[in-house]
Amino acid sequence: MTDAVAAISDDGARLATEEVRDLSDLDMDDLISAAHDAIALDGGFGWLRPPAHSIMRQYWRGVLLIPERRLFVARLDDTICGSVQLHFSSAQNEAQRLVGRLSTFFIAPWARGRGLGSRLLVHAEATARESGLLALELNLRATQERARQTFEARGYKNWGINPHYARIEGRWVSGYSYSLSLIDGEGEDGGDGDGGGDSHGDGDGDDEGGGER
Ligand SMILES: CC(C)(COP(=O)(O)OP(=O)(O)OC[C@H]1O[C@@H](n2cnc3c(N)ncnc32)[C@H](O)[C@@H]1OP(=O)(O)O)[C@@H](O)C(=O)NCCC(=O)NCCS
Repeated sequence: MTDAVAAISDDGARLATEEVRDLSDLDMDDLISAAHDAIALDGGFGWLRPPAHSIMRQYWRGVLLIPERRLFVARLDDTICGSVQLHFSSAQNEAQRLVGRLSTFFIAPWARGRGLGSRLLVHAEATARESGLLALELNLRATQERARQTFEARGYKNWGINPHYARIEGRWVSGYSYSLSLIDGEGEDGGDGDGGGDSHGDGDGDDEGGGER
């Protein structure tokens, strides 16, 4: 585990975020439980219903093995209660080498409203900057209202809506695409205006492709 950042909330709870490169059995169980609760309430990162514990364990083990992936977790009173992942482009994706992507952003329902979601983003953004990334992007379902508020409060700009983002219970759910420049003072329209032709490409070979983040 690296880079723990801690604070005390108004109600006296200990708040922390950290980057993890390995998970103890206890931490793994807590992460699985937190993800289960978040998916059960809101859906998330592709799942509509919480998968079996063993599938979820396999998923998180896989995340820790991906070289182009960094995993950050939030802790409330030392118990893991949420996460976000920072994706780097693979070597062949030269055009997007300096653009990172965020995924799997959630806080368990019982830990929300204490600023941990924002703290996770602060930590991931700081790591992205330290790693030389110049921008971050992400997609989410239009229905994920609090996540949208959280990103917008941190300056992420919604640049597009995909009406066919997800198919849930026989209906299309729109998806919102967000972007954040990590260059100090740069506006969000600082790109080359080509309409994002190669953005969100699936060509980075990661396990989620262009799917839900
Ligand atoms: C989005 C999410 C991670 C936020 O977690 P959180 O720890 O509650 O967030 P914070 O306490 O840091 O609050 C962040 C912002 O969310 C909004 N927010 C938080 N609690 C809120 C509430 N009760 N009502 C309305 N807005 C709220 C505010 O804009 C807040 O910013 P502020 O503190 O500057 O006012 C959490 O709600 C969640 O897991 N949602 C479901 C999963 C999801 O949608 N993930 C996105 C997929 S990428």
